[in-house]
Amino acid sequence: MSRQYTVFACQKCGYQSPKWLGRCPDCSNWNTLVEEMQSPQEAPAMNAVFAEAPKKLCEIEAAGEIRDEIGIGELDRLLGGGIVKGSIVLVGGEPGIGKSTLLLQLSNKLSANGDTVLYVSGEESVGQTKLRAERLGKASESLYIVSQTDLDTIEGYIDKLYPKAVVIDSVQTISRSGLSSSPGSVGQVRECASRLTQLGKSKGISIFLIGHVTKDGSIAGPRVLEHMVDVVLYFEGERHAAFKILRAVKNRFGSTNEVGIFRMTSNGLEEVENPSELFLSERPKDTSGSVVVPVLEGTRPLLVEIQALVTSSGFGVPMRRAIGVDFNRLSLLVAVLERRIGLGLYTQDIFVSAVGGVKVDEPAADLGIVMAIASSFKDKPVDTGCCILGEVGLTGEVRGVTQTELRVKEAGRLGFKRCIVSKPDAKSIRIKSGMEIIGAASVREALDIVIS
Ligand code: TYD
Ligand code: MG
Repeated sequence: MSRQYTVFACQKCGYQSPKWLGRCPDCSNWNTLVEEMQSPQEAPAMNAVFAEAPKKLCEIEAAGEIRDEIGIGELDRLLGGGIVKGSIVLVGGEPGIGKSTLLLQLSNKLSANGDTVLYVSGEESVGQTKLRAERLGKASESLYIVSQTDLDTIEGYIDKLYPKAVVIDSVQTISRSGLSSSPGSVGQVRECASRLTQLGKSKGISIFLIGHVTKDGSIAGPRVLEHMVDVVLYFEGERHAAFKILRAVKNRFGSTNEVGIFRMTSNGLEEVENPSELFLSERPKDTSGSVVVPVLEGTRPLLVEIQALVTSSGFGVPMRRAIGVDFNRLSLLVAVLERRIGLGLYTQDIFVSAVGGVKVDEPAADLGIVMAIASSFKDKPVDTGCCILGEVGLTGEVRGVTQTELRVKEAGRLGFKRCIVSKPDAKSIRIKSGMEIIGAASVREALDIVIS
């Protein structure tokens, strides 16, 4: 066997050094050198996966993806119609949000028809995993569990069992002996993930990697894994949020920005089939500061309630807080309300939140946010049967949004009677849903219609 050695490679420019350096001498970036294992054998092994001479594109026969339905509807949809054979999926999220639960459910479903699935837990003992599995229903016959953190040993298990899918819980706990850096460090995480990726690709085994996300939103190791894998799914929001929202931020086999919505119950994660209905179920009637906005999550329209509370501030600089809404966007919209409408918001604290733990970052929600703030400030409720849609510009004009019909249809389905949109959108909508579509050219016009 050839001798392996470690080097420190710069993540920015690829410079290699035999010892660790704080600053890369080549590209002058700080803290970019990461320990990596090198062996004369490994370089060709890495290329072997795609080792083919160049061919003419027109002569290549597409093999087509082989997909397996998991049996969890939201997850299948998120992945673009089931899991692709040999694909590598990274599932990230804060600790305690439900990653292990979801992937154990997934392993159970995938193995239900007799295919072998291996679940490697580096965090919990086999007994603990069993206890969890008992809450999730009947365990399948061909689901194997092991508690292991050594990558070489795990590879041994994979060779022996030759499973259809492998779950690694979590990629930060496994390590490769030979690298002196500790598990969870960038070097280890990168090395382990790239080894598993090669293994999965060459053998056609689907690999799920669980990754803990630190508070600043990066999977430990500055997102080093994202470009290595085929699919990246992130659990959004906090672990106490009522709904667990899983978002596909990258998908080589489907569309991105698609979301799956789940709810944690005593029997594990449950799919939420009709999220709009649920989001609106606790909506207060005839209260100021509440507006419903049809936002688009991936290809799916979702009705989300935006709430605003405006109260006069004590001393000093008034507060602005946003939960689930972009803070910079909020500041901009408050400025528009002050200058273009003349609301005296400079003496007011403003709190805005999207209900249910959803993140609304679409400009299409602008007009809704503006209306919620104005409604709370004037203490006049917005008509409950009315939803609001439109982007707001700096001059206070209302602009059109994408996919208006899809959104309006969803609002109609849930019993909304009126929808305020931009003037051009109002002209272009062709559906006959029995809904009254009202075009507003400016924020002022919209205010006159909604809050008289
Ligand atoms: P977990 O999946 O372990 O989160 P992660 O792997 O992302 O760290 O657990 C999520 C939480 O859900 C945990 O606090 C326990 C709870 N839970 C339930 O409420 N119901 C269940 O059926 C299970 C298995 C866990
Ligand atoms: Mg876990």
